[in-house]
This record gives sequence, structure tokens and C-alpha cells, in this order.
Amino acid sequence: CATSGNAASDGPKPLDELVVGFAQVGAESGWRTANTKDIQASFEEAGIELKFSDAQQKQENQIKAIRSYIQQQVDVIAFSPVVETGWDAVLNEAKAAGIPVVLTDRAVDSQDDSLYVSFLGSDFVAEGEKAGQWVLDEYADSSESVKIIQLEGTTGAAPAIDRAEGFAEVIAENPNLEVVASQTGDFTRAGGKQVTEALLKSNPDVDLIYAHNDDMGLGAIEAIEAAGMEPGVDIKIVTVDAVKDGMQALADGKINFIVECSPLLGKQLVDIVKQINDGEAPEKRIITEETTFTQEEAIEALPTRQY
Ligand code: AHR
Repeated sequence: CATSGNAASDGPKPLDELVVGFAQVGAESGWRTANTKDIQASFEEAGIELKFSDAQQKQENQIKAIRSYIQQQVDVIAFSPVVETGWDAVLNEAKAAGIPVVLTDRAVDSQDDSLYVSFLGSDFVAEGEKAGQWVLDEYADSSESVKIIQLEGTTGAAPAIDRAEGFAEVIAENPNLEVVASQTGDFTRAGGKQVTEALLKSNPDVDLIYAHNDDMGLGAIEAIEAAGMEPGVDIKIVTVDAVKDGMQALADGKINFIVECSPLLGKQLVDIVKQINDGEAPEKRIITEETTFTQEEAIEALPTRQY
């Protein structure tokens, strides 16, 4: 029972008649702010109307926003799911209304992959593996136990699950590398600071902090300094994202290594929307290209870093 008026069912519309509804996670991190800006700017540049909602990291708000886009009969719905589970009902509603859905940044764990047309975003397991590889190499010659604290992203979110998995798989190669504590800081700076403060009390001899994003790593830096220690030296820090503040801390020697996760998904999302409008099938999985940064590489990259 496809609703009439959607780009996919009625053939190409002029771009200035297309309407896309985007349900964003929130504004929890520097990465998210850069991602929102890039998406809004890309749609403006393409001359496509973008309806935008901020779910403040709550799944129920995102579901509400998607339902309202269905009611408004937008041409395409795009969203970055706060958590992986619990999307089938609302995605089936979008499907029944004939509105194609694009996942950006984060995945859903649905068994039915006909519920979305494309998933554009990073390989979070690979990001965790890259972080783990740096730690493995850094302590390759150490015969002593290396105590690691992990600051997890939002519980149930794809990047939190996958970055933990990739990291654990790689560091398992060296039994000296031991995650002594692992807790969520919800991808925020305040969360990273609070959790680190608490965990430093129970683990004062920790060697390294692996934070699932820069913001939590930046919060950890504040907690380490407040405890009278030197971040990057007394306690090493590895993070994911490579946003400007993270890169600055890396260049300043307070973070030791960053795995890049690019928030610049706007142009590729516009391309997917245009393909759908033209009646073409976009690729089901589009993986973002990403690199890693050492302290020296951060000094070089910082002056031209866009976000
Ligand atoms: O889903 C991407 C993650 O979400 C980013 O790494 C993090 O900073 C953000 O909040």
C-alpha cells in the first residue's frame, strides 16, 4: 500500500520538490555536531529540503520523529540509530508507507534488511581493531601486566558494541594486556570525566585508557590532571574520532593515538537520495574511508582539519 507522492514510487522529482526527514541521535559530541553541520550544509547546497530532528540520545524521540516524517509523507527518511535494537516496528511502518529509509553512521540489528535501502557509515569493528593494534604494538616488548580502562560509548549503540569487540579481539593476542574496568561514558565529555574519576580511585595504577570517542578521552584528560597525573605520559590514552579538540590534545601529547571516524557523510547521503529519486538502487553498504593519527601526524594535519 505505497503512498503516492514518494520519489521512489513516482519517478524523479525536481530536486527542489524533494523532502528528506533526518532523525539525528543528539548533540552528544564534537563528532555529532560536525556530522549535523555537514549533513545540513550538503542538503542546502544540493537544493533539497531537509527536515531535521534531534533525539537527545533517546530512542523514543527518534521513533517519534520517524513516525512524524511518515505522516508528512517525506520522500526519504534518513537516521542514525541511537541503539541497535528495537527498530523493526517503525521501519515496517515506513516500508508500508512506501518511504525508503537510509541508515547513516550507525546500524540496526534487524534481521530483515529490506527495511532500509542503504547503510552509509564507518566500519566500527575495524576502528576498534586499529585502536587495539596500536596498544598491541606499544606494549609488544613489555613482559609486565598492562592495565587498561575502557570508556564505552552509549550502551547498546553500534559503535560502542563494535569498537569494544574489535579492540578485545586484537589485544587478546597478548595476555599481558588486561581490561581492568569498562564502563559507559555515553560518548560525552562529562561522562568520560565522571567515569574516569571514579575508576581511577579503584584502579590508581592504570596504564592506559581506551575511549570509544575523543570527547570521553578529553573528559578523561581532565580527570587525570585533577588527580595530579600527566595524561599521555603517566596514563596513555587512545581514542576514536579525530575531531579538532581530540587532534589538538594528540598534538599536545595528552592523547597518544587516534583512530579516525569521519562525520562527513552529507555529500554521500545526498547522492543516495538522488539515486533513490532516479529510481536507482544505491549500494546496500557504503563504508567510510578512514585513517589513524599519531602525535606527529596530528601536528601535521591540524592546520587543515575541517572539523
Ligand atoms: O556513531 C558515531 C559516534 O557517535 C562517534 O564516534 C561519537 O563521537 C558519536 O557520539
